[in-house]
Amino acid sequence: MTKQPSGKASVLDFYDLESPESTEFRRLLHHINGQPSPNDKRAILITSAVLSEGKSIIASLLTITAAKHKKRKTLLIDFDLRRPTVHRLFGMPLEKGLSDILTAGVAVRSIIKSTNEDKLDVITAGKGIPNPSEIINGPAVHRIIEEMKFYYDLIIVDSPPLVPVMDPMVLLDELDGAIMVVKAGATQKTVVGRARDLLATRKEKFLGVVVNNLNRSLPYYYDYGYYGYHYKPTNSSSDGNNSR
Ligand SMILES: Nc1ncnc2c1ncn2[C@@H]1O[C@H](COP(=O)(O)OP(=O)(O)OP(=O)(O)O)[C@@H](O)[C@H]1O
Ligand SMILES: [Mg+2]
Repeated sequence: MTKQPSGKASVLDFYDLESPESTEFRRLLHHINGQPSPNDKRAILITSAVLSEGKSIIASLLTITAAKHKKRKTLLIDFDLRRPTVHRLFGMPLEKGLSDILTAGVAVRSIIKSTNEDKLDVITAGKGIPNPSEIINGPAVHRIIEEMKFYYDLIIVDSPPLVPVMDPMVLLDELDGAIMVVKAGATQKTVVGRARDLLATRKEKFLGVVVNNLNRSLPYYYDYGYYGYHYKPTNSSSDGNNSR
């Protein structure tokens, strides 16, 4: 296993380029990008209706896919200043991070963290601050995103959930699009509807929904394994047939 510069394990170590999940993330990127021209810089918000629907892991895997498959210079920013997670997923320290830029005026480029993946960098959340909504509402966010678009082809922004706090909608004003993650079989329909209504107020930016947790909430025959799509090398003991 390749360690990150910190020596800790990272989600990068577990990413399988040949997995069905990787294929789904490539489809998602295709949807986000269309046919990008070299000057087509995008900054995309990943959000959800409520807590723990899989925003951070999906934001991370999407970012890795863009860097590995598309060879696009990609930046993941942890804009969830309330429950930051990205640093843990990538085995990085929480500090220094976004809150240092927003509150202390630290230069953005000085707090970017590199990963073992050449084209993938991360901005972690930084130390906790008491008033994230207020800070996010200021002019600094616009400046950060515009500056980072100069250096990166794709910027993925992890954020808090839509229904409890204003942060994602405020962030969306400065971004090009939003994807809503829905945890299937868990989040109530009315709650998902409330989040969809909020995003519909910026419908030109609402790119679509990623459904998480499908394997656990749909009948087994929706699973890739059922169709034998899950590839395994022929020298493996199972010969790759319907192996899960
Ligand atoms: N498809 C999945 N299968 C198994 N576990 C998952 C899946 N998606 C997310 N998880 C797990 O669920 C938990 C919540 O995921 P994650 O932190 O990405 O959600 P979140 O929406 O960012 O949460 P928060 O609102 O706290 O920021 C994590 O432990 C994550 O590993
Ligand atoms: Mg999160």
